[in-house]
Amino acid sequence: MSANEAFDHFFSEGYVTDLVRPLKSGKEAEVILCRANPATGAELLALKMYRPRDRRAFRNDHLYKAGRVILNGHDRRAVAKKTRHGRAFDEAWWTFHEWEALQTLHEAGADVPRPVAASEGALLMEYVGDEASAAPQLRQVTLSPSEAKPVLDRLLWNVELALRHNVVHADLSAFNVLWWEGRPTIIDLPQAVDPRSNPNASELLSRDVANICTYFERYGLRSRPEELARGLWMGFLFADL
Ligand SMILES: Nc1ncnc2c1ncn2[C@@H]1O[C@H](COP(=O)(O)OP(=O)(O)OP(=O)(O)O)[C@@H](O)[C@H]1O
Ligand SMILES: [Mg+2]
Repeated sequence: MSANEAFDHFFSEGYVTDLVRPLKSGKEAEVILCRANPATGAELLALKMYRPRDRRAFRNDHLYKAGRVILNGHDRRAVAKKTRHGRAFDEAWWTFHEWEALQTLHEAGADVPRPVAASEGALLMEYVGDEASAAPQLRQVTLSPSEAKPVLDRLLWNVELALRHNVVHADLSAFNVLWWEGRPTIIDLPQAVDPRSNPNASELLSRDVANICTYFERYGLRSRPEELARGLWMGFLFADL
């Protein structure tokens, strides 16, 4: 499916009325700005369309898929054998996975876009920005000295909140945080992992925390990412005791 076909799909379902313009065409995804049907509760929506996997540079995906359970035997064998059906299943799995993570986190009150609809290979969500310009990534902006610390704290709060809802982002960095009207929004969750089942979750959590802490060093903020990550992980492990 192309981005235009994905647009047609959401158009026929009544979610969007116009394609405003393409926002970003990257290695893994294409994102377009759409005018929304007001019934969705939004004026504008972002449509994220995944590229077919063989054109993507998503390496080491076994890290993220470890512990994944596919209950249906037919699907499971097809994925293992990489048949056509297996590849299609895998494709749909990433979109569905991002959709699920966004739903969980949005409901939990995390700073993520509100998910609106999903179809095979495409996701419709709240758009961060205004008609003239999309929100920049955090790495593209310069925060004022007084802004930096609260934003760092807010992002770490989000990491903890997500963990409490069994989600580790697993690709968190200043590339995947948008900055708009003084607030961060965390995006890009297809690779998110469930810390209850994924054996790499603690390592991926440490990497997320380290990416964020290291980024904020440019504002003179020194934190102890290893300690922070360990504390978060311990809190997760012992939460039910
Ligand atoms: N909800 C949104 N509102 C505004 N802009 C968005 C939204 N979602 C994504 N974008 C824009 O599209 C870009 C790519 O989105 P995302 O990070 O989810 O995909 P990706 O897999 O990293 O894609 P790629 O690797 O191809 O850039 C973002 O960096 C951002 O600029
Ligand atoms: Mg990204």
